[in-house]
Amino acid sequence: MEPEIRAASIFRGRVSVIPQHVAIVMDGNGRWARKRGLPRLEGHRAGAERLREIVKCCPDHGIRFLTVFAFSTENWKRGRHEINRLTELFQAYIDSELEMLQDYGVRIRFIGSRRRLSHTLVARMAMLEEATADNRSLLLTVALNYGGRREIAHIVRQVAEAVRNGEVNVDQISEDLVSRYAYAPDLPDPDLIIRTSGELRLSNFLLWQAAYAELEFVDTLWPDFTVAEFTSVVERFARRSRRFGAL
Ligand code: IPE
Ligand code: IPE
Ligand code: MG
Repeated sequence: MEPEIRAASIFRGRVSVIPQHVAIVMDGNGRWARKRGLPRLEGHRAGAERLREIVKCCPDHGIRFLTVFAFSTENWKRGRHEINRLTELFQAYIDSELEMLQDYGVRIRFIGSRRRLSHTLVARMAMLEEATADNRSLLLTVALNYGGRREIAHIVRQVAEAVRNGEVNVDQISEDLVSRYAYAPDLPDPDLIIRTSGELRLSNFLLWQAAYAELEFVDTLWPDFTVAEFTSVVERFARRSRRFGAL
């Protein structure tokens, strides 16, 4: 899909190429807390506040889709203590964000597996999705208990099922068809993937969708990632040449 040409207020009237879909690996909360001698939870809390600011600024930038990595299928390897604190934080975040999401016209959606999540959390996620379903300024997709390989396995199962039911012919399995069985089939591929905290890897994020995303790795720890830095990353994207294999 061609990136849209839009004039966003943040660029003060200059016409720029705006990434319509930005995805972020929000990493570095634990190190941020350690540097301050605080428990890791405080880093996650500060990270959640940072997310709020970034979400609010997206519509001004002309960004229509924001996808964030909140918890990976590999993060279950962390101790029970950290997982319990994170679950409490996700629940508190859901409760505290509804008003902001409505004020800013943000629709929220969760991707990933809900299987290992607590019933309370799953119920609140569904409530928030439903309450914001008609908002149109920004679609915020939160990847929670998400793994790119898990998603691909899910797609393969769905396609196999469709073949078995006679809904799909093996010859019809194309890239487009595969995309239609993804967790969020209506979401365009990310134009830009940002990872904070200096780690140079995707850690199982959006493996299928990342095929032609522009990548930005910044050293800043997620709780320190300001709207100003986000804006400069988006401006750098505007100067990139995307060829998609053509000359
Ligand atoms: C990202 O921060 C948040 C989650 C993975 C839940 P980390 O918790 O990974 O922070 P670091 O990488 O240990 O600093
Ligand atoms: C990736 O960060 C997952 C999230 C940000 C939710 P991790 O901190 O879990 O990734 P690794 O372990 O450094 O690869
Ligand atoms: Mg990390």
